[in-house]
Amino acid sequence: MPAKIIDGKELAHKLRDDMAGEVTKLKEQGIIPHLTVIIVGEDPASKSYVNGKKKASSQTGISSDVIELPSSVSEQELLEKINTLNNDDHVHGILVQLPLPAHINEQHVIETISPDKDVDGFHPISIGNMMRGNDAFLPCTPHGIITMLHSYDIQIEGKHAVVIGRSNIVGKPVGQLLLNEHATVTYCHSRTRQMEDFIKHADILVVAIGKPNTIRAENIKEGAVIIDVGINRMDDGKLTGDVDFASAAEKASYITPVPKGVGPMTITMLLQNTIKAAKGLSD
Ligand code: GUN
Repeated sequence: MPAKIIDGKELAHKLRDDMAGEVTKLKEQGIIPHLTVIIVGEDPASKSYVNGKKKASSQTGISSDVIELPSSVSEQELLEKINTLNNDDHVHGILVQLPLPAHINEQHVIETISPDKDVDGFHPISIGNMMRGNDAFLPCTPHGIITMLHSYDIQIEGKHAVVIGRSNIVGKPVGQLLLNEHATVTYCHSRTRQMEDFIKHADILVVAIGKPNTIRAENIKEGAVIIDVGINRMDDGKLTGDVDFASAAEKASYITPVPKGVGPMTITMLLQNTIKAAKGLSD
């Protein structure tokens, strides 16, 4: 039987509607959740992501601004900018769009953002809290994935989850969140040998490789839940995931499409973190 489609777009809109109600209530208490995004340089993909974040914020009633800095900006100048925002009570969330130019140390930037305003969930304090299963700003894409699984009542506990990819933004944290929910987690990556042996035993397969149509029906277990994190722009301009959707959907029980799968959930979780930050500061 063909897989059920996990509709990230529909779920994202439902959650954003709920959040808009929450933002209205916060505004009645005099709190206007505010997100500041910093973008360095002219990378078109980054600009497009940042525009998406800005648009989604305003649709939810969250105020936002974008600080555009030239790619020539020094690390020191960027860190000073972040410190100014850390001390600005009107700013609840700070996000520095990655990647950054090579002369800027990404880790210095991430560690300079106040953990109270770390809506990306990249600060070591956020990561530590996530690992311990404490309250934390969770990284947006992994949190979006877990939220999708919950919304579709997909059992995580006791399942074998295989994560392909070990980036700090997606692979590592999504594996940790699945572990926190009592899955047995296997990480695969570019140096994994006989990766197919792991993939074919996955009850939940999270694919974050960054190469189009890499995983096909013959690779996966019958009835597996397939989460496709890949967003690959093809020569014809269309977006496609890391999974060959048409074939995998014949064998999986649930599958996320690309587009309209994980992508819209990532921004939604950013909005949720911004609201969380705004509430935190009001305590
Ligand atoms: N670049 C790609 N994904 C992300 C993300 O989730 N946050 C930030 N800050 N930069 C990114």
